[in-house]
Amino acid sequence: MGFCSAACCKLSRRVKYLFLLLLPLSVLAWICLFSGGSVKSFTVFSAATQALIKKENTQDLANLGTSVAVRLMTPTPRTECPKKSPLLQGAVKLNFEPSLKVKDVEGENKRVVEGRYQPLSCTARQSVAILIPHRNRERHLLYLLHHLHPFLQRQQLHYAVYVIQQAGDATFNRAKLLNVGYLEALKDYTWDCFIFHDVDLVPENDRNLYVCDSQPKHLVVGRNATGYKLHYKGYFGGVSAMSREQFGKVNGFANTYWGWGGEDDDLRIRVELQKMKIVRPPADIARYTMVFHKRDSGNEVNKDRMKLLRRTPLVWKKDGLNSCKYQILSVERLPLYINVTVDLGKP
Ligand code: BGC
Repeated sequence: MGFCSAACCKLSRRVKYLFLLLLPLSVLAWICLFSGGSVKSFTVFSAATQALIKKENTQDLANLGTSVAVRLMTPTPRTECPKKSPLLQGAVKLNFEPSLKVKDVEGENKRVVEGRYQPLSCTARQSVAILIPHRNRERHLLYLLHHLHPFLQRQQLHYAVYVIQQAGDATFNRAKLLNVGYLEALKDYTWDCFIFHDVDLVPENDRNLYVCDSQPKHLVVGRNATGYKLHYKGYFGGVSAMSREQFGKVNGFANTYWGWGGEDDDLRIRVELQKMKIVRPPADIARYTMVFHKRDSGNEVNKDRMKLLRRTPLVWKKDGLNSCKYQILSVERLPLYINVTVDLGKP
């Protein structure tokens, strides 16, 4: 009798624990059942789902019990992100801390995987590839990534950052690197929009949206170095946005601009030849800080640029994306960006 009562007691304690465990689960299941449509049940579970995905811990799902776990993992319809992201902060304070390390930026951007991110709670309105031409500017790149990743996440974009590194020491060719970036990024995904981004320009205001419009968009109205004034009326350099179709239509950049200057003016001429019009965000938003640097060796001023610009209307159809010859040396999928190293050949 004593033996039986001890065993019974142990058993009833187990039943009690099981009951306590099942109670919240069944309440959740009832809420779900009575809330009707999948949109409502998504609302009930979205916070839990988000927390779980954030922890990236599938064990948590298993611990919740099979039926709830299945429900949590079943894809539910997601709504399109709002036109105006609720996460925007406007003008943000930039910081260029000399002690900043790659690991710090990786730690702050855990949800960026191999340079790519998409919002959890909604479907992004555009998929955007950020293309950064680069050679020997590691510090500038780190400062830019430090600001750009949270900036793009606040804009609720699906995006990836591509850094296109010119191998060797031939004269730098920004335009050809951007053509390579466009062609290579499209092998990963059919991006809607491309942002051509200098490594030394950091955006100051997250209302400067990195999305494409019905016309090509120039995003740098002003920068600290020029008193936040537009350089000149036709300026199309620094940071600009073109949709996949717009860039294809103008046959991309010319491949023939080696050294500093002219390639952005050439792109503007191509845009105008296609009867497109460059648009800009308001001046109080399209503001950038330029990280100071001396002119790089290997990127001397291109003295032929005026001559090249005069022949753009004659050559744009055969000098561009359709004639871009290069050799990819490596594609590394790093935590914060896709690092494409390319041999562009020589001038
Ligand atoms: C060059 C452009 C450059 C601009 C602003 C022009 O003279 O041709 O390539 O972006 O100056 O510095």
